[in-house]
Amino acid sequence: MDISFTNLRNDSDDNENDNDNDEVLPSEDQQLIRHHVNAVNAEIVIRQLASQGIAFQLWPAASTLLSLLDNHRILHPFLRRDNCRLRLLELGSGTGLVGIAAAAILGADVTVTDLAHVIPNLDFNIAANAEVVGSGGGKLVAAELGWGNVEQMEVIGKGFDVVLGSDLVYHDHSYEPLLETLKYFLLSLGDEEKVFVMAHVKRWNKEAVFFKRARKVFSVDVIHRDPPVDGKRGGVIVYRFVAKPRK
Ligand SMILES: C[S@@+](CC[C@H](N)C(=O)[O-])C[C@H]1O[C@@H](n2cnc3c(N)ncnc32)[C@H](O)[C@@H]1O
Repeated sequence: MDISFTNLRNDSDDNENDNDNDEVLPSEDQQLIRHHVNAVNAEIVIRQLASQGIAFQLWPAASTLLSLLDNHRILHPFLRRDNCRLRLLELGSGTGLVGIAAAAILGADVTVTDLAHVIPNLDFNIAANAEVVGSGGGKLVAAELGWGNVEQMEVIGKGFDVVLGSDLVYHDHSYEPLLETLKYFLLSLGDEEKVFVMAHVKRWNKEAVFFKRARKVFSVDVIHRDPPVDGKRGGVIVYRFVAKPRK
């Protein structure tokens, strides 16, 4: 997977009226990041807006999931359902890289989600990749979803086979809403087959609380570990959550 960075400043200076979003966002921090995806021999283009906050940047955990989807196919046995079209939900999508790549590579129906203020950039990135996703038969839609918001979860519905997420566990006040969201989408009668694949970077010891609570209702396995990078304590770890068998 090749990643190259393009500063959009010059482009947007030349084409001021090309896109409504460009008019309301500061242009100096806009970057288009191009990912060559071997599996579809095409580029996925992601707009980053670094000055807008954490949801507008690409995080290493997202790159790991992309790499697994693209090169190693490690995830595919966990995601594929025989002869069925895959329906996939991404939580905390940020820039949308993982969901967009999954739609393109797997030809899946994907709903990318995040908080309301993130949706315009997700829509931008969906539009930017419509051709590559469409040519593989994938479908993408963005929806607002604050974790634990029952009304928003009901609007999105439960019809997903797989839930994906990258770098979601950091604020301890979000542990419980995130778990409630996972329970909503993964735990219904007859839903033992559903799976949550989460790429995570450990930053604080307190994150153990999230995993301890999760293990009360889910079986949680490690399916991939990146080696540590740049002297950090640990690299990205990818977990698989499935519902524990009911007694
Ligand atoms: C560190 S970023 C990771 C973004 C993206 N998944 C990635 O790996 O590049 C965390 C994401 O979770 C979202 N998020 C945080 N708290 C949330 C909440 N309570 N409900 C919904 N999304 C939330 C943020 O808006 C952000 O997009």
